Order: sequence, then structure tokens, then C-alpha cells
Amino acid sequence: MINAPSIANCDLLNLGKQIEELIAGNIKFLHIDLMDGHYVPNLFLPTSIVKVIKLKYPNIIIDVHLMVDNPHNYINLLKEYGADYVSFHIDSTNFVIRFLRYIQEKEMKAGVVINPSQRIDIIEPFIHFLDYVVLMTVEPGFVGQRFMEGSLKRLDELNKLRKNTNTNFLISVDGGIDYPNSIESLKRGADILVTGIYTIFNQPDGLTSACLRFEKEMNRI
Ligand code: DX5
Ligand code: ZN
Repeated sequence: MINAPSIANCDLLNLGKQIEELIAGNIKFLHIDLMDGHYVPNLFLPTSIVKVIKLKYPNIIIDVHLMVDNPHNYINLLKEYGADYVSFHIDSTNFVIRFLRYIQEKEMKAGVVINPSQRIDIIEPFIHFLDYVVLMTVEPGFVGQRFMEGSLKRLDELNKLRKNTNTNFLISVDGGIDYPNSIESLKRGADILVTGIYTIFNQPDGLTSACLRFEKEMNRI
């Protein structure tokens, strides 16, 4: 189980301090949402956020979730700034395979993101090129939404597709992750849980303790 807190949930006025608290909570992976106000109706963070985090914490794995039109425009900078994983929405490019390979040629892991309104088998034509798949369990663009009904069934379908095609891409679930749906997601083959306000942030015991508590609970499964 990889716990990947989404920094979109951080208190922006205390971002540095909160990242430190996450790391003290044994976090190895950070999920960074980048929104351009076109692909999704919201704006969030410049690419340079990757640079400042990586400079200070070189061992943290940075997983960038691009919610942007023309995602190609950002790859060179993300590489230069130290991103490790980059995912993009399938409908944000006309050439999914070429783009996956482009990211991988730059020695980053490449993934696609599936929206709740998209079929799971949309990935079949390029399934062998994937390092990971991000299954959206909310509509992208905003934090704090509730995990959508039907998402676990979709996860089953994705996991089955992975087995049937003998592929080994990682599955990340993103949106509205809480304790009960985390347990169900892990049982259904999820590898990465993108955590937010229902598990890690806004918890009474604070960020560090919430991370350790979540990890302990999930490792029981
Ligand atoms: C939604 C983002 C998610 C979000 C997850 O557009 O992709 O990564 O920040 O955090 P919660 O589950 O708190 O909304
Ligand atoms: Zn995300």
C-alpha cells in the first residue's frame, strides 16, 4: 500500500510545515494536482512546486496529476524539476501512446487518468505501455468531494483487466478516499491511495499521527 497524500488539501499558508509533518508520518509519495483552469474549472499550483519540494526532500517520490489541456507543454519542466510519476487525462491528448512513451523516455513513470464518465476498457489499446492508472473516484477539479458510488465496481473491472492482460501497471485511486473505501480498494487491487481530508488532513491528532495511524490500519489488510 502506498499512501500518497494530495497536497491540494494542505493549508497553503503552512505548506512547508505540513509537508514536513507528512514526511515525519513516514510518507514516501506525494500526489501533486496541477490544474490549468481549462481542462478543469479550477486553478492550482505552478509547476515550480515540484522543484521546491524536490530540492528540499530529494527522496520523496513526486506523483504529478496533470489536469490540463496540452499536457505535453509541461513535461520538460516537470522532468527538470524532479517529478518521478506523471499522469494525464486520456482525453487531454490525441496521441496517448506517443505521449506515454515520451514521458517514459525522460525516465519518468507514465500513467493515464480515467474519469468517472469514461469506460474502463478505454485503456485497452495502450495497456502495455502503462506504468500506472489513476482511477478517478470523483469528478476532477476540486478537493473534498465524496467517493462516487459505483467506483468499487469500476476498480474490480480495472483489476480484472490487469489480470486478464497479464499486465502489471499500478492502480491509484483518487478522490474521496476514507477508511472504509480504502480497505475495500486495497482488497480490490489498488496499490496507491491518494489521501485527503477524510483520512490525513483535518484530523484531530494532526498530520503526522494521522499518517502513521492510517498506515498501520491499512497494513493490517
Ligand atoms: C481531485 C484531485 C484529488 C483530490 C484528493 O481533482 O485529483 O487528488 O485532491 O483529495 P480529496 O479526496 O480530499 O478530495
Ligand atoms: Zn489528483
